[in-house]
Amino acid sequence: MALVGGGQGSFIGRVHSIAACLDNRAVLTAGALSSNPERAKSSAPDYGIEDARAYTSYQELLESEAKLPEDERIDFLSIATPNHVHFEVADAAVKAGFNVVCDKPMTYDLAQAEKLMQTVRDSDVVFALSHNYTGYPLVRQAREMILGGDLGEINAIRAQYIQGWLRTSLEAEEQKQASWRTDPSKSGAAGAFGDIATHAYNLGRFMTGLLPDQVSCHLKTFVEGRRLDDYGTAVVRYDNGGLGTVTASQISHGRENDLEIEIDGTKGSLKWRQENPNELIYRQNGKAHQIYTRDPNAPFMTPLGAAACRIPAGHPEAFFEAFANLYGSAFDDMAKRASGESFERRDTVYTNVFDGVEGMYFIQQCVASSQDNAAWLPLKHDAARR
Ligand SMILES: NC(=O)c1ccc[n+]([C@@H]2O[C@H](COP(=O)([O-])OP(=O)(O)OC[C@H]3O[C@@H](n4cnc5c(N)ncnc54)[C@H](O)[C@@H]3O)[C@@H](O)[C@H]2O)c1
Repeated sequence: MALVGGGQGSFIGRVHSIAACLDNRAVLTAGALSSNPERAKSSAPDYGIEDARAYTSYQELLESEAKLPEDERIDFLSIATPNHVHFEVADAAVKAGFNVVCDKPMTYDLAQAEKLMQTVRDSDVVFALSHNYTGYPLVRQAREMILGGDLGEINAIRAQYIQGWLRTSLEAEEQKQASWRTDPSKSGAAGAFGDIATHAYNLGRFMTGLLPDQVSCHLKTFVEGRRLDDYGTAVVRYDNGGLGTVTASQISHGRENDLEIEIDGTKGSLKWRQENPNELIYRQNGKAHQIYTRDPNAPFMTPLGAAACRIPAGHPEAFFEAFANLYGSAFDDMAKRASGESFERRDTVYTNVFDGVEGMYFIQQCVASSQDNAAWLPLKHDAARR
């Protein structure tokens, strides 16, 4: 594994390295850890990366790794940089033949995402996008229950991702994570909607498989001087006639990473919350509410749900493990690629380049709709899973 981003003072790069290596299927051996060359070097010992493979740029990393013998060079590269850097690194890595795990949102804008989709299609690499919430055992369980018909026809999806950390203008204090997230030249066209609404929207798509049709969206910036949205709600019409809402907030006092989803079907409903991820609630009118707990040995677990568990029920599993499950699913395909076997590229368990395009289209259309007084705009993209 090589990591791009993740230098001292950063957030998600460390999570990538822990998640990728959790099951001893990967070793982090190389990195271009920071945009600052000195910090890129000085951060390497924190990860146990030897100095010779602590590169000062991703270009140097790709060039040098490609020259190493096949059994020494990296197999894949993970991208944990701010959004505006994703495309150039991913594009170059795919063209150099390396598998890629890229963080979300996949690119800076839709045009870059569509280009990257084509580059990935023209290659034989595995490309995973870290919508890591799809890796939770009970999220995978919910997907199998829904696709298996336990909820009947899906009528409604209510997804929300509520945070409070940007209630004050942290960007004015130059806080690292806040600065680029609120800067349109680095974050993209949206703030909260690009950063976290994409996760909530993707979760609904992953769990239900419903195909989007149209979107109407209201975005707001509540903190004075901020240049991107910090609150918003989108309404999504799905092509089966279902209705979805996606709400994202960065300005709700005391709220942490409250990603929650509720799904209503004709036969039952489900609710899951990432701050209590080892429970999934299933309800049917006239029956006692059922709480599914994460239990690898329970007969009620679906195969995908059970396979995503590592330890017995009651020992909490959470963010790292879910992230590791996404990696694990991508590794299965990387192993197939390495041994010359064919593998599915579109309908994968892990979120992929097509989901990335959908996410960027969602952001673009939400911003455009909001600028046009919440006009209904198309949300169908050829990249959508069928
Ligand atoms: N999946 C998730 O749950 C999740 C959570 C947080 C962040 N993210 C995403 O991960 C990405 C990083 O977010 P973060 O909060 O860790 O940001 P951060 O600001 O904490 O870290 C970014 C790192 O990237 C480095 N960097 C910037 N340009 C670089 C370049 N050209 N080459 C090498 N390194 C470079 C910076 O020096 C820094 O070390 C963003 O795209 C964000 O949306 C995803």
